[in-house]
Amino acid sequence: MLGLAAEYKAALVERPGERLTTLHGRAVVNLFFENSTRTRTSFEFAAKRLGADVVNFDVATSSIAKGETLVDTAETIEALGADFIVMRHPASGACQYLMRHVTASLINAGDGAHEHPTQALLDALTVQEALGKIEGARISILGDALHSRVARSAIWALTKLGAKVTLAGPSTLVPIEFASMNVRVVHEFDEAVRDADVIYLLRVQTERQASNFLPSLSEYRALFGMDAERLAMTKPGALIMHPGPVNRGVEVTREVMDSPRSRILGQVTNGVAVRMAVLTLLDRTRQKSGVRR
Ligand code: CP
Repeated sequence: MLGLAAEYKAALVERPGERLTTLHGRAVVNLFFENSTRTRTSFEFAAKRLGADVVNFDVATSSIAKGETLVDTAETIEALGADFIVMRHPASGACQYLMRHVTASLINAGDGAHEHPTQALLDALTVQEALGKIEGARISILGDALHSRVARSAIWALTKLGAKVTLAGPSTLVPIEFASMNVRVVHEFDEAVRDADVIYLLRVQTERQASNFLPSLSEYRALFGMDAERLAMTKPGALIMHPGPVNRGVEVTREVMDSPRSRILGQVTNGVAVRMAVLTLLDRTRQKSGVRR
């Protein structure tokens, strides 16, 4: 998977305008019940680059506003010709639920506080590109893990690939129960970043009520925000990552985002290559299993 994504990344750099025919004749529908810039746009770029037709379904102006259910909506989209449905939904488990009702390939683009698998894959590609390998890398994930689908998927993927993962943040947002995911849990910034090869800053998710778990954003910034002064105290060359969107000045300052150590925009770029690889591999699986319209 990461190998194919790396090949696509190289092709995107060398031949930026190229259009492939890998998914010619297939239709990809982006079905996003929550806002997105990176995930939705990169799936669209990825699918178009592979030669697919792409529809960005507009939830707000759809018949969902008239009370049509998720299942009826997905079945309707499939009846209209979707081969792939890329779905983001506020409910954890929404994709697993919908899988029972459609034969189109369903890709989880983030479900509640549960999982964000393609984010984890692009994060893995970014670490591999920067460090040469993931196995043995010391990766510290800082912030609001409790509400973070990004953190859950990143922990799962990076530990599976052999990274040594530390999870850090206020104890309200990083409960000790996360230790069962094969990570070290700490509650001090300095302890978390000491020796880290990668410092992965999570977004404080105020829309998922994280503010109820924090005295204030300014206190969070004082305890766990990354600024130039703190960056200077980390291991030389340690990378800064963040899934976006950034609460600028809370998790990370503009100065750090713009520093050569930041891979934040590199992560975004890698999203296209990774999502091309996901779509390609899923299409191969569909063809092998004979699921073709
Ligand atoms: N990282 C991420 O999922 O960003 P978007 O919400 O912009 O898609």
